[in-house]
Amino acid sequence: MMNDQSKYAPREQPSDPAAGEIPNFLRFASVEDAEGVARLALLNERARAGGWRQALEATYQDAEFVRYVTQLDRAAFLDLLPIDASSEMLEIGPGLGQFTALMARRARSVHALEVVPGQAEFALTRCQQQGLTNVELAVGGDDCRLPYRDQAFDLVVLNLVFEWCGSRLENEPHEVAQKRLLSEMARVLKPGGALYLTTKNRYAMRLLRGGRDEHQFDLRFGSALPRALSARLLRRRGHRRAMGMLYSHDRLAAMLREAGLTTLRSYWAAPEMRYPTHYIATDAQSVRAARAKPGLVQASGRLANWLTSLVPARWVRHVIPGLAFLALKPAAEGAPSARATPTP
Ligand SMILES: C[S@@+](CC[C@H](N)C(=O)[O-])C[C@H]1O[C@@H](n2cnc3c(N)ncnc32)[C@H](O)[C@@H]1O
Repeated sequence: MMNDQSKYAPREQPSDPAAGEIPNFLRFASVEDAEGVARLALLNERARAGGWRQALEATYQDAEFVRYVTQLDRAAFLDLLPIDASSEMLEIGPGLGQFTALMARRARSVHALEVVPGQAEFALTRCQQQGLTNVELAVGGDDCRLPYRDQAFDLVVLNLVFEWCGSRLENEPHEVAQKRLLSEMARVLKPGGALYLTTKNRYAMRLLRGGRDEHQFDLRFGSALPRALSARLLRRRGHRRAMGMLYSHDRLAAMLREAGLTTLRSYWAAPEMRYPTHYIATDAQSVRAARAKPGLVQASGRLANWLTSLVPARWVRHVIPGLAFLALKPAAEGAPSARATPTP
């Protein structure tokens, strides 16, 4: 591990960062169930003994899960980002490190903040076993605050974490916690730096058609319902509040702007954001151009694919499964303009 403490805010230095240990900034007691903790402990033990890859396959019998955390083309979004050998990156919610090593190969350094200690440990081992020495893991984020100093990073990546990030803050509305995380990410970015954020879409076609929503205890239509109605239905089923919170394309764009980020670009990850084959800018012209080329599957499943193909190009961004934004923190006045971002 890099053992680079310089990115942490002085007030956030972990109390006793023993050499080689992952700094822990958690604010609340762990909420993981004992079975999950034990499984991660076994995974880490096996990874140390026989290598990360073999440990994953031995510990998780679920082939779909192993695919989710190993399939390289899930990281195709990295090609959209302004990363080069001088980039200092922050990844929030790396999970089992599915993208961390790939980022570290392209960047100068990667700091990653994961709320589950066993996952952070595995992500670090996975990077170390691939010979990467420019990665630093930390445990934290449960309060939707970042333990890093101001203007520390060129690029922050938050992939499929935003919808869940406030779930441990039982007494705070999700939106308050999510807005704080957006402000925190803006704070730790250097002027001219970029944020890449992917989350699910509140008005995804699947939910509009009555699909079950995992963020709302599998409620049909779930996040697509008016907030007051879904809250009422959840309460009737004995739930105090939703597990995660989704937004529409335009609402999320507004939240990013409120956090001080500008020059937003949004992308359609087709056919769906967990396993995308194409990233298409969501302006009508780019959508038309992508549809004109052969081979674009617009959504998973024949019916969803057909329905999506009927949606006018200028409206597609409102019903796609996931929202992917690249946003810039404005460069300081008088400073050279932000690095160009690659065009998709
Ligand atoms: C759905 S997984 C996505 C993992 C990975 N980014 C990907 O796209 O494959 C969400 C991850 O974010 C982590 N997470 C959730 N809330 C977080 C928070 N507030 N701070 C840091 N990590 C968080 C979870 O523990 C989990 O590892």
